[in-house]
Amino acid sequence: VTGTASIARDLVSPRRLAGSVEVPSDKSIAHRALICSALASGEATIELRWVGQDVRSTVSALASLGLPIDLEGDQGRLRVAIRGQGDELGVGRLGGWEVDCANSGTTMRLLAGSLAGGSGRVRLTGDASLSARPMERIAAPLRAMGAGVETTDGHAPLVIDGRRPLLALEHELPMASAQVLGAIALAALAADGRTTIRVPGTTRDHSEQMLRFLGAQIERRDLEAGGGTVTSLAGPASLRARSMTVPGDFSSAAAWIVAGTLHPDAQLELPGVGLNPTRTALLDVLREMGADIEVRPAADGDGGEPVGDLTVRTADRLRAISLDGRRVPALIDELPLLAVAMAAAEGSSEVRGAAELRVKESDRIAAMAAALSAVGADVEELPDGWRIRRGQPRSATVTTHGDHRIAMALAVAAWSGIGASVVLDDPACVGVSYPTFWEDAARLAVTA
Ligand code: S3P
Repeated sequence: VTGTASIARDLVSPRRLAGSVEVPSDKSIAHRALICSALASGEATIELRWVGQDVRSTVSALASLGLPIDLEGDQGRLRVAIRGQGDELGVGRLGGWEVDCANSGTTMRLLAGSLAGGSGRVRLTGDASLSARPMERIAAPLRAMGAGVETTDGHAPLVIDGRRPLLALEHELPMASAQVLGAIALAALAADGRTTIRVPGTTRDHSEQMLRFLGAQIERRDLEAGGGTVTSLAGPASLRARSMTVPGDFSSAAAWIVAGTLHPDAQLELPGVGLNPTRTALLDVLREMGADIEVRPAADGDGGEPVGDLTVRTADRLRAISLDGRRVPALIDELPLLAVAMAAAEGSSEVRGAAELRVKESDRIAAMAAALSAVGADVEELPDGWRIRRGQPRSATVTTHGDHRIAMALAVAAWSGIGASVVLDDPACVGVSYPTFWEDAARLAVTA
């Protein structure tokens, strides 16, 4: 936390929240843009802004695999020029064999998928949080495709032994995970034949969008009434490099969408935010609760990813809402913030079917139940979600478990008066996805 960020230390509700914020580039799209560019033939430049640690982990992972990468940037902009290896990550020829993915699950899982069809043996490691997250969910399908994948009791470190060609796979995911879907889709580029991946829910479709943008024949179709999706890709497939600009991250904007909705005197502008419909369910849910959010779509961004500007104003009143598992995948990273909104609503709200939250950067069900209760909300922890009612704001020190989304959710709880005065044990952890979060907060908070 920098000197200008004293706002991070003792969080209280400001008199007013007003102004405009340019949020960081979408982390999910950025990982895919970088990794797919590494697999493509030709050179591409990926334009990013306010890049967090997770995306930097992907850049440095690719550099340690020996990819020629040039970085150039100023004033929060970062241009990453990559010369792709064409078809396979040539780790055997070029780079080192150990790659550190730090805190980033997407880096580890997507790289595992792309290395499965490569020509070398690579060890993927992560920090303590990433090393506690389940990896058998990618290891099993990649092994079934013919790659060598060793886990450490189902966790990182992973050792990936690439094979080419891989076998095409028909796979049914036990959980709705875009990371697992993405890992298999990247491996399927190196497979002989058509790979199909059935997913029990509608996850983000950035892998499909990116692979199609770079020339792969990949399709997703929806199964009847909430039955999930099927993605299919014809392999082997080659990607052609294309430069692109990555839009703002809806999941970062979500902090301000909830803060502006809950704060009693707020108007916030959020220009250039990615509005892929598999990501924006938070807007529907908050509107059902009574939020006042204006969306002005712009022309689609690169790779067919929709983009627009948002204006968020104080909601007059917020109604309780109950959500089941069908709505969870399109809200997955916003659920900690939504829990805060539920603690501001009239009546009892519920989230069910969200057990996947227990295997994120922290156990987000337990972490949010403990943190929101500590600041005074009435929260019951359920095996797969929460039951939440308004409580009495209290002052507390909150444990973030080093999880960026817990830290931002509790900051929003403090700014919107759900908590009285909140101290976070680790405010700097927001840098994983949103390094300028506290600076933006300092600008938006009108205290006098
Ligand atoms: C992501 C998918 C989600 C999400 C994560 C990023 C991605 O995880 O929570 O922050 O970029 O594919 P799962 O797909 O594993 O649920």
